[in-house]
Amino acid sequence: MIKELNKKIIVAVDVDGKEKALELARKLQGSGCWLKVGLELYSIEGPAILQELKELGFPIFLDLKLHDIPNTVERAIRGLMAWGADIINVHCSGGYEMMARAAEAVHAQSGNRQRTKLIGVTVLTSLSEKVLQEDLGVGRGLESQVIGLAQLAQRAGLDGVVVSAKEAAALRQACGEDFLLVTPGIRPAWGEKNDQVRVMTPREAIKVGSSYLVVGRPITRAADPLRVLNHLWDE
Ligand code: C5P
Repeated sequence: MIKELNKKIIVAVDVDGKEKALELARKLQGSGCWLKVGLELYSIEGPAILQELKELGFPIFLDLKLHDIPNTVERAIRGLMAWGADIINVHCSGGYEMMARAAEAVHAQSGNRQRTKLIGVTVLTSLSEKVLQEDLGVGRGLESQVIGLAQLAQRAGLDGVVVSAKEAAALRQACGEDFLLVTPGIRPAWGEKNDQVRVMTPREAIKVGSSYLVVGRPITRAADPLRVLNHLWDE
């Protein structure tokens, strides 16, 4: 039962090297969860870390948030596909053509195995509405920008988006049942929030329509990460 629920949890392996990554992975082995490799670990260890984590049996979300001209992103994705990530992502603000070319590259190379999913980052949660409008010159409000970019991503052939769980309900409505909503900012009901301000518990996030939940520090900083993972759902 817990193992089925854990299949919706993506643990953010935000550590600065292979030893720490593998130590954490071994503690979580067999639990059913995913691992997320972000820019820090990827920059230090290179793509080989993906294979090492996959060999321990984890599905992998490679969180590099690609954003460049369409040709460059398409070619980067063709390169990345060789490493076997199960979810990869791009910034929606790269535009329709960039996302469509990225989706083409993913579809072309997934072959017969279960297809790699391509998702988009809408608006970084580190950006406020004020920064979005005043510094970046975006005319519409934050929520309209998130929904607009998610719909653009869907038209371009992406499988889903990364969004705050607080926006999940609106996006589930705007983008339908099959669109993947991957939501960070998740905290167990009984835990600390760290620096995340707008948090939800795992059960709340699922209720509002999240498909996968990204959880970092509550698990990675725990003395017993597997125990925390298995009690995430306790209310
Ligand atoms: O430790 P914590 O659970 O806050 O980690 C959340 C993970 O999700 C981190 O890897 C962070 O970079 C990522 N993330 C986020 N908010 C976003 C996108 C990604 O917290 N909007």
